[in-house]
Amino acid sequence: MNESAFFDLTYGMFLLGSSVDGKPVGCIVNTVTQIGNQPPLLSVSVNSGSNTGAAIKSSGLAVVNVLSQAAPMSLIQTFGFQSGKDTDKFSDIAWVPTDDDLPVLEEGICGWFECRVKQTVEFPNQTLFILEVFESERLGDHETPMTYAYYQMVMKGGVPKAAPGHRLPEEEGGPPAGPRYFCSVCNYEYDGSEGPFEFLPPDWICPRCGAPKSKFMIRT
Ligand SMILES: Cc1cc2nc3c(=O)[nH]c(=O)nc-3n(C[C@H](O)[C@H](O)[C@H](O)COP(=O)(O)O)c2cc1C
Repeated sequence: MNESAFFDLTYGMFLLGSSVDGKPVGCIVNTVTQIGNQPPLLSVSVNSGSNTGAAIKSSGLAVVNVLSQAAPMSLIQTFGFQSGKDTDKFSDIAWVPTDDDLPVLEEGICGWFECRVKQTVEFPNQTLFILEVFESERLGDHETPMTYAYYQMVMKGGVPKAAPGHRLPEEEGGPPAGPRYFCSVCNYEYDGSEGPFEFLPPDWICPRCGAPKSKFMIRT
């Protein structure tokens, strides 16, 4: 199997939300797809350890916020790299509850879909939710949806190990590794966990010694 064939699959970027006892939960996902329109159905793949996935299972409700290019990187870092098990992700952002207490962002989205879980399909590491949309809204004509490619190529964002789109390292069956980058100050070797080294932001620093990205060199 040529693992790199997966690189050409295209996606959007979404904040998937739900609620527990009236409190909002949510995480970033790229795996929302439309299945049909009569009835209107979406699907989303959620990692088994996700707090948001557990809330969707217990409440039977989910909201899909469609991120726009105006959504800041800080939002994706909070919702895509931290779990609601450890932190209140909604404390510093502007959001409003729907009639069903599901969180809708006030900024950085093109629209949203309120959904009921119609079916769940369990896999060893993921749950596939089939969602029936019962309410939706489109917000203005000015916002451009954020695609997964835009997030990776333009915003230079990485993908955590928990996400289905994460690329396995070569020794675990992933695509052939590119060049190996190491810190010329402390010899730390970048492990690829935040995406390709070339896509890390210019202000990224060595996680071991704090040296700037420019101090990294290719291991020969
Ligand atoms: C770009 C991007 C795409 C992601 N896509 C998914 C996805 O489709 N499914 C998923 O379960 N997690 C995905 N994640 C990872 C979750 O957002 C992450 O594991 C989050 O910390 C889960 O939070 P929770 O435990 O509060 O639900 C993605 C993260 C990023 C940054």
